Amino acid sequence: MAPRGQQAVEIADDVHWIGALDPNLRTFDLILKTANGTTYNAYAVRGAKGVAVIDTVKEEFSGDFFTRLEQVARYEEITAVVLNHLEPDHTGAVPELMRRAPQAHIYVSQRGLKLLSALLKDELEKYVYTLTDTGDVCDLGDRRLTFVNTPYLHWPDTQCTFLEDRRLLFSGDVFGCHFCDERLYNDLVGDFRFSYEYYFKHIMRPFKRYVLEAVDKIEPLDPLLIAPAHGPILRDNPLDYVRSYRKLSNSYLPNEVEGKEKSLLVFYMSAYGATADMARSVYEGAGEVEGVRVSLYDLQGGEIEPFVDLIEGADGLVFGSPTINGDAVKPVWDVLASLISIETRGKLGGAFGSYGWSGEAVPMIEDRLRGLKMRVPEKGPRVKFHPTEGELVVCRAYGRALAESLAGKTRPKEIDLADL
Ligand code: FEO
Repeated sequence: MAPRGQQAVEIADDVHWIGALDPNLRTFDLILKTANGTTYNAYAVRGAKGVAVIDTVKEEFSGDFFTRLEQVARYEEITAVVLNHLEPDHTGAVPELMRRAPQAHIYVSQRGLKLLSALLKDELEKYVYTLTDTGDVCDLGDRRLTFVNTPYLHWPDTQCTFLEDRRLLFSGDVFGCHFCDERLYNDLVGDFRFSYEYYFKHIMRPFKRYVLEAVDKIEPLDPLLIAPAHGPILRDNPLDYVRSYRKLSNSYLPNEVEGKEKSLLVFYMSAYGATADMARSVYEGAGEVEGVRVSLYDLQGGEIEPFVDLIEGADGLVFGSPTINGDAVKPVWDVLASLISIETRGKLGGAFGSYGWSGEAVPMIEDRLRGLKMRVPEKGPRVKFHPTEGELVVCRAYGRALAESLAGKTRPKEIDLADL
């Protein structure tokens, strides 16, 4: 049944959707587009020993949330407030909820405590809370909620909550998407597949290894219903959505390099051919190192998205950019800006390039790579105008040094032709 007006909707015996619809939202968290808004899903579970509220809504939708909550429970009946995730789109109504139901016991993951403290400030000390881990239980008398820790999906604090008797998984952001449709259920709403994959790509993709760990925990629960914090409630083939997370976390094609060699990608842009010549030398030098497979790409010849896919599977990446107006060129920044959607921590990084006056591009790129938690073991070569044969030898040595570092055969060394 669709939520007419501001009605709560029963999604299982004594389990109600008490969330809010936000059909007019077009951009979520500044980075995510949505063509038809989103929902903030919150739920109320009634047991013999009281009512558990699971998540709330964005603050400006608190009115809808409280209206629906009051249809299914009195505040004094609320014994538990379960916070699967502390981001403001799910905790906007928590401070007011706790003022109205101060006796409620808060359940939050261990990593969520700092965020809870920031949310409730001095008021936190008035309330009772439990820090949860996988397997911990919230007892509602005749029914139990068990917690499944799912860190980094997509924040460190995230957890799922499983209602055992209905095999109902309250999954937080996991298995959610930004799609607003008052028909609520996946078998009734419009086609939301694009939105589901888009959401995964932008929210969960950087944490693929954590996704696989979470799926390993969730699949054996065999949920009959998955109630995420955004988008449709998954009652038709819910396990297909769990399995889709496994598929989306693995490559479509096998990575022919992985497991046999380290993969090093050399990207470049070149205005007059100088940085291109440097790139070729870096590529050749790196190619001399056994155990490293090197690839060379001109950024002028490709779209960003496939390059991001390549980078996700690579062990190291080097960017060649000329310096124009004191900066690296835009296509390089476009690729670097797109790396927010993948895990880059621990990859090897480097930069090189030619310049006319000041050569800022190389250190700027290196700073960005460090900001992405990559290691930058060698200071990259910079060449004024076109490289000489001697400078190309240095570029070759730089490529070799990077590859040796990747292969674990190196000693740190700094090269900066601008200083020579
Ligand atoms: Fe829907 Fe991560 O908040």
